[in-house]
Amino acid sequence: KIPIIIDCDPGIDDAIAIMLAHSTQKFDILGITPVAGNVEAKHTRRNARDLSEYLGINCPVAYGAEKPLLSYDIYRPASGTHGVNGLGPVTLPPAKNPVYPKPAWDFIYEKAVECGGELVIVATGPLTNIAIALLKYPELPKMIKGFYIMGGSTTTGNANPTAEFNILVDVHAADIVFKSGLLVNMAGLNVTLKTGLPLDFLAELSQMESRVSDVLAGLVEGYKDVKPDRNGKLSSIIHDAIPFLMLIDPDMVTYKPCHIDMECQSKMGGYGATLPNYVISEEAPHNCNDIQDVDMEKYMQLCVDMVKFYK
Ligand code: BDR
Ligand code: CA
Repeated sequence: KIPIIIDCDPGIDDAIAIMLAHSTQKFDILGITPVAGNVEAKHTRRNARDLSEYLGINCPVAYGAEKPLLSYDIYRPASGTHGVNGLGPVTLPPAKNPVYPKPAWDFIYEKAVECGGELVIVATGPLTNIAIALLKYPELPKMIKGFYIMGGSTTTGNANPTAEFNILVDVHAADIVFKSGLLVNMAGLNVTLKTGLPLDFLAELSQMESRVSDVLAGLVEGYKDVKPDRNGKLSSIIHDAIPFLMLIDPDMVTYKPCHIDMECQSKMGGYGATLPNYVISEEAPHNCNDIQDVDMEKYMQLCVDMVKFYK
């Protein structure tokens, strides 16, 4: 199994992504490190703990940052997409396990040491926790086997015309991450917007008999990131599932190596853009694999298998 830490801001698509990742049994989920993002930290923290126990993961949950590094004064949650509590109409049974006694960044470092170079991190929220870990432990990039995110975009944005939400919430954290020496396997909007799951397919999943069907139905109902897919069918974009696919089965995705620069300055437009350069050079080193496409048939089969797993 792949030893993994999930850094996230649950968030409905984060919750579904965790449900999916756990169901594959390919991961040893060592911990979850919630950060402020889709909703305020008090909600992402509770949701991470409740979800971990509800799904039977029962891993440590180490609390992360309550605010972005510098742009704390302009941070606004995305409650319109995820509901005020972050899981739409869903209320999970309250967690019983205690909170991990150290903050996210120390937990990440400890696990990196324990795993002896094998630790993988998937980040599906703003990159604040990861940036703090990198600032505090600059040797971390060499200690991590793989780093995967949902965030950024090499085409269009969703939080402004060029910026994706996770990146825009903490642009400076993203800048630290892209300059850290980590190779970022990036599921940006350029790919996630092509991976919508048709609402009728999701309704079928929720109707299959399983112990998660009511929760899944509630999450799908509460999630407001719904757009027509490539065939014009209304679909929910479960952005945060996509970085996990590259780990579950590398053949499920295609990607292009590139260099990403963060636009942290411009107030003229472009603020928060992840600017790609596909010509790798000394000045523009390979710091990103930009995921281009997903095998939708395999992805949808994984979703069916997920519900069967929770029967
Ligand atoms: C990303 O932002 C959040 O709303 C989602 O959880 C996802 O991680 C999509 O831009
Ligand atoms: Ca997220």
